[in-house]
Amino acid sequence: MKLTTFCFSPTGTSRKNMMAVVKGLNPDEATHNDYTYYNIKTGAGLNEVLSSDDLALFSVPVYGGKVPPTALERMGQVRGENTPAILLVTYGNRNFEQVLVQLADYVRERGFRPIAAAALVGEHSYSNAQYPIAVGRPDAADLSSAEEFGKQIANKLKETDKKDWDIDIANNMPQLETPEVSLQAFVAFVQEYTRQQQINPVKAYPTASPNACTHCGVCVELCPTQAIAIGSEEVTDTTRCIRCCACVKGCPTEVRTFFSPFAKPLSENFQMRREPLYLL
Ligand SMILES: Cc1cc2nc3c(=O)[nH]c(=O)nc-3n(C[C@H](O)[C@H](O)[C@H](O)COP(=O)(O)O)c2cc1C
Ligand code: SF4
Ligand code: SF4
Repeated sequence: MKLTTFCFSPTGTSRKNMMAVVKGLNPDEATHNDYTYYNIKTGAGLNEVLSSDDLALFSVPVYGGKVPPTALERMGQVRGENTPAILLVTYGNRNFEQVLVQLADYVRERGFRPIAAAALVGEHSYSNAQYPIAVGRPDAADLSSAEEFGKQIANKLKETDKKDWDIDIANNMPQLETPEVSLQAFVAFVQEYTRQQQINPVKAYPTASPNACTHCGVCVELCPTQAIAIGSEEVTDTTRCIRCCACVKGCPTEVRTFFSPFAKPLSENFQMRREPLYLL
């Protein structure tokens, strides 16, 4: 089995989950295309065409119940020829909604056939010391569960007929339940936030305190969209920033911060531990 992976993971949780699945799969050969920085560094995999004997794996985070548009743009040139594909999404303990259906449609249009899917959990990009959300996820239990899923996929490929591999995500993917009280509180917050934005559209972006920033340049390296320039790291180009929080989580002196208005309601309403969900 020759595996080719395609990953977009600004804060690294989608990558961690993916590598646990890959460990369980234990492929004969693997090529990893990380699209988080592809246009800055290698450009690898951009014109990749995979055959029906290959195995593809797509791993992306969930942004607002969808695949981040930047991830879709970067994977857009990849093509399959009825190539089996594993779909992994990592979300921050709130919900993944219809993201796997969206990703399945997207890869199908490009010649892939989804044969396994998972909704995995990662520390929320907006999580901070004041408003923790799924801190430390994926943890050891998550990674061992993801590895086991990888083993189960390998068994399916070995032991079942190719024609029986396809999955029906829209109808069979397990869904999450959220306690009514948390759901109502979060929906009320989103409605009020949307109303305020209509009156006064002000979006928050990460910034660094000019006096405290050491200009080490780590955030420049970590930013997937080149929204931070060397020498003026305290400034964020808001036309490029996707608010992924890679710069915030990676700043060694913790002077780069992002006060998302969503952090508090997410932390208050989504403390229940979500477990990884699978479809095979
Ligand atoms: C802009 C944005 C939107 C997000 N939307 C959701 C969401 O709808 N549901 C959810 O549970 N987590 C959401 N998250 C959290 C991420 O899905 C989660 O932290 C994920 O682990 C990040 O993946 P990465 O480490 O690969 O970047 C969002 C994060 C960001 C930055
Ligand atoms: S990582 Fe932090 S300290 Fe380093 S340049 Fe960026 S904001 Fe400044
Ligand atoms: S500046 Fe924006 S896009 Fe760049 S790493 Fe920070 S949050 Fe992500």
